[in-house]
Amino acid sequence: MPDRIEITINRTKVEAADREPLIDVLRREGIYVPTLCHHDRLEPYGVCRVCMVKVSWGKKSKYVTSCNYPVENGDVFDTESEDVLKVRNMSIEALLGRCPNEKSVVEFAHRHGISKSRFSAQKPGGDDCILCGLCVRVCDEIVGARALGFMSRGPDREVCTPFMENPESCIGCGVCSTLCPTTAMKMEGQKTAILKSRHGDVRPCRYALMGFYPGGVCANSYECRRCDIDQKFRELAAMEGCEHPIFLAREYAGSKKGGGTE
Ligand code: SF4
Ligand code: SF4
Ligand code: FES
Repeated sequence: MPDRIEITINRTKVEAADREPLIDVLRREGIYVPTLCHHDRLEPYGVCRVCMVKVSWGKKSKYVTSCNYPVENGDVFDTESEDVLKVRNMSIEALLGRCPNEKSVVEFAHRHGISKSRFSAQKPGGDDCILCGLCVRVCDEIVGARALGFMSRGPDREVCTPFMENPESCIGCGVCSTLCPTTAMKMEGQKTAILKSRHGDVRPCRYALMGFYPGGVCANSYECRRCDIDQKFRELAAMEGCEHPIFLAREYAGSKKGGGTE
């Protein structure tokens, strides 16, 4: 069992495990801090910066991202002062500036009291991708397909999708679009096309490709939404608190823990 330590959050003493991610402590204590790029089943990424809080030690302090900050004995956190909200809201404004027409980003900003941004969009009409990397990471860490990646740098940075290059490794599981917090990653139409073009007349079931029952064949022309097998696995995943059945397949394989985005 990890060593127990004591930290302070918003003037209240709290116990935690040594080097436990701050976001886990905050959630356990019922303290809201927004997250966008974080997912409990994926390695921390710390890129969206909407989860910023202040940590102090005596007179020294700094702002840190709570999703990947490991707590240590004596840390003093501020998650709610005006200064902290200002820093956090700056990150939200930056996202709104990048994606001014993306409904989910606009709504997220509104929920945090932000309706306009000082930052301007780099692409005409704005982007729909916040570069959170959830799709890339889930495809790599959970699916193991590594079909997605980022290309270019700076304002031109974007996710390279399977329907741009149609990589052989994509199994059409669709978890990338399930986790995408915006409308940027759309797999519903594409995954059927990818699977049909990939497998010709011999059509392995998507759930066989995900590792549930090797050798299973699709008798439904990849119309998963109309398939009992798909419904059953989706229900099972929901019962287990998973957004997508692929997490169950990997949990049965004993690889990852539970959780979700907020
Ligand atoms: S559908 Fe699955 S395998 Fe294909 S890119 Fe998305 S997460 Fe990766
Ligand atoms: S496509 Fe979606 S999940 Fe992928 S980086 Fe962009 S916003 Fe995040
Ligand atoms: S940086 Fe912490 S949730 Fe994105």
